[in-house]
Order: sequence, then structure tokens, then C-alpha cells
Amino acid sequence: MNTNKLKKIVIFISGRGSNMQRIIEETRQGILKDKAEVVLVFSDRAGAPGLEIAKQYNIPVASLSPEGMTREEFFEKVSDILEKVDFDLLVLAGFMRILSPSFVRKYQGKIINIHPADTRKHQGLGAYKWAFENKLDKTYITVHYVDEGVDTGKIIAQAPVDLQGVSSLKEVEERGLQVEHKLYPETILKLIENKIK
Ligand code: GRF
Repeated sequence: MNTNKLKKIVIFISGRGSNMQRIIEETRQGILKDKAEVVLVFSDRAGAPGLEIAKQYNIPVASLSPEGMTREEFFEKVSDILEKVDFDLLVLAGFMRILSPSFVRKYQGKIINIHPADTRKHQGLGAYKWAFENKLDKTYITVHYVDEGVDTGKIIAQAPVDLQGVSSLKEVEERGLQVEHKLYPETILKLIENKIK
């Protein structure tokens, strides 16, 4: 196997990291095997549980707290970290911070995010709560490019989540995450194989 051909992925997380873990798993023994590798997991929270998971897979991790910095300053430092890393795709997976405009411009077209709603209907936090409180029969998971707005970038892929009969927010999240864990690696695969423009 020519490892040079592997597409290099950086993942940004802030917490649990279940999407991150699914993507790593897919690179090790799933649809991304021999196609992509995760070269760095970065977090804005040193205590993010996902960092420990990444370490268990022997993936380099880095963290930096934004405390005391402006958004611009923080992302300049994050950009310094990325300077040392060769990567093709920057995957936001539960990264709870809005990127600075200059960071977005620097990596435009390389940054993607997963949002647990149709980004045309709901942006920002609390998307599953929104679906639950509005008693939606169906919600959508969206993978989109990141632009300078919040969840406003071009939609790359969407998948429906059947919410019929759900009785709690927890159930909405469980059903949604199952869809997220399938949609995100599948979309990454299509992107790296240039099957989506
Ligand atoms: C997911 O619901 C994702 O869609 C949203 O934040 C959550 C992150 O979960 N952006 P995890 O850290 O991947 O488990």
C-alpha cells in the first residue's frame, strides 16, 4: 500500500468526540481504510473526553485554551499549530467555537462541519432540542462547508432522521447520532474521491 496516497484529515472537537471516533474507526477498518488517515485531533478544551479517545488510537493530539485571547488571536495560534501539519481536510466534529474570518479564508474549501439539523431551518446550538420541541416527524443532519457565518456554508450532504414516536430529547439525540455517524464518514469518502464538487 502506498501510504502517500492517504488523504490527511485533521479533526477539531470540543467534547465527547463520538463523530471523531467513528471517523477514526472508518479509517482503520471501514470505508475510509487505505483512503484516509487522521493526522491530528485538536481541541479548544484540554479536558475534552475525545482527546483521550484519540490518544488510544495513537493519533497526535493538541489543545489550546482560548482564554484571554480574542477570536482572531486564538485562531492565529491554531493556524500556527496547523502550519506544522500537512492535511487535506479539516473536519469540525462538535467543535463549539466560531472560527475567525481570516482562519476561514485561509482554509476555505477545506473545512467541513456536521450540524444536527437542516441548516436552512436551524443554525447554531440546540438543534435536537429545536426538533423535539417543534415535534418534527423528521429532521435532517447536514454536512456543509464552513464559511464565515454560523452554519451558513454550502450544503454538501444531508440525511433524514425519522423522529416518529420519539418521547424524549435523549431519544432524538440517539436517533440523530446514528445518522451522523453514518453520514459524516460517507460524505468524507465522497469528498476525498472527488465525487462531490
Ligand atoms: C453532534 O451532534 C454534532 O452534530 C454537533 O455536536 C455534536 C458532537 O458530538 N455539531 P460528538 O462530540 O461528535 O459526540
